Amino acid sequence: MLSEKVQKALNDQLNAETYSAYLYLSMNAYFNTVNLNGFANWMYAQAQEELMHAMKFYEFITQRGGKVVLAEIEAPPTEWDSPLSVFENTLKHEQLVTRLINELVETALAERDHATNIFLQWFVTEQVEEEESAGNVLEQLKLIGNDKSALFMMDRELSKRGAPTADEEVA
Ligand code: FEO
Repeated sequence: MLSEKVQKALNDQLNAETYSAYLYLSMNAYFNTVNLNGFANWMYAQAQEELMHAMKFYEFITQRGGKVVLAEIEAPPTEWDSPLSVFENTLKHEQLVTRLINELVETALAERDHATNIFLQWFVTEQVEEEESAGNVLEQLKLIGNDKSALFMMDRELSKRGAPTADEEVA
């Protein structure tokens, strides 16, 4: 049984994860328009991962006998100045999600909801990876600066990122 407070906080996070998927799909669309298909692929895989995160919250709320309440999803930005600004935005967004997950853990602990706390630990670990992978791409973009051929090499590299694996689907 979920307390009102925890149920609301889990539903808010379901919304935040769905927004993340929207944001990364919008970035995918941006990269498609500037013909950076590898970067677009990276964002598409990232959006799929966020939908999977959202579904974990959806399923957990249901499993605990709670009520999923779907709310409006904010429209994401649609334009960026450069790949660098996209990844600055991506890292900033992941840092925000980390803060939200940490606050959610604190809410669960304050409500003495240990099952929710254990469920959230997967996300605590996941956020370390999320910040690291966005941060790595950002650092590479800073290094290459205005070097167009390095940007195309990087684009080719990012085209190799695949869809989330079955492992990542098991919380
Ligand atoms: Fe679901 Fe990228 O955090």
